[in-house]
Amino acid sequence: MKKTKVLLIGAGGQLGSELTQGLWALHGIDNVISSDIKDPHGILKEGRFEKLDVMQKDKLFELIKTNEITQVYHLAALLSATGEQDPRWAWKLNMESLLYVLEAAHELKLDKVYWPSSIAVFGPTTPKDNTPQDTIMDPTTVYGITKLAGERWCEYFFKRYGVDVRSLRYPGLIGYKTQPGGGTTDYAVDIYFKALAEKSYGCFLSADTYLPMMYMSDAVKATIDLMESPAEKIKIRSSYNISSMSFCPTQIAAAIKKYIPDFKITCQPDFRQAIADSWPRSIDDSRARSDWGWQHEFGLEEMTKDILENLKQ
Ligand code: SER
Repeated sequence: MKKTKVLLIGAGGQLGSELTQGLWALHGIDNVISSDIKDPHGILKEGRFEKLDVMQKDKLFELIKTNEITQVYHLAALLSATGEQDPRWAWKLNMESLLYVLEAAHELKLDKVYWPSSIAVFGPTTPKDNTPQDTIMDPTTVYGITKLAGERWCEYFFKRYGVDVRSLRYPGLIGYKTQPGGGTTDYAVDIYFKALAEKSYGCFLSADTYLPMMYMSDAVKATIDLMESPAEKIKIRSSYNISSMSFCPTQIAAAIKKYIPDFKITCQPDFRQAIADSWPRSIDDSRARSDWGWQHEFGLEEMTKDILENLKQ
């Protein structure tokens, strides 16, 4: 059997650096190459790192060949809020980079590929509560459009060429180790930093906006669980609904107040409110639970405790 060698693209992002560490623990630090268009920061400097612009297809293929890569995790993308600043570029970057990775998987015979989708694939006429796996998908952001199209491409490469591609529709991801970049759910990260630094937070979503969210350690666990499951258990080759909690700004503020009693939140919705309003309030992830045994660990209370304790240090 070939030795597992992993390439992670977009390692400098919010999920990337934590997933890199999860992959080090699983495969050994020498068997994981993290890459990003930017120079490595923090923990990434401790492992193997290659600077990579994923739009340079030749360099991507070369990197895979010279390092005998067997699995690619492709996380690089423009998110929902930044995508709206330059829709044409978001389309080009998110779609072409995925196609390069899928082509590499097919042509260079990779064992597996991971690519994240998002709750942004859903839209205003999707059922909002307990959103099913198979339902109406009418995304309104360019980010959501690229994720929906990307899901179709993943399934296409699986059915047509047998590429073992796996994917999750992440909810908002919340961590404290790396700052997020340009998402609509990012308020739920910023709020912890501001709560500790200033005891107040001005939120860009309205107080009662419910969104599906997940703590970073659960996101890393879900991703690795999915990728390590036997192929026959992966019945969905577009992307799996995945979930652990849903809350609104009022509820996360209340959870923080248990530790910082004089914390105050004010809400002044901006353009991101319309994006949030088009997304589900909660997600039905029963297929992930029954197909490959997904189980989450963190709810709002446990997450808040963990983040505030760690950030205080
Ligand atoms: N967290 C992402 C965003 O807000 C959703 O996938 O853009």
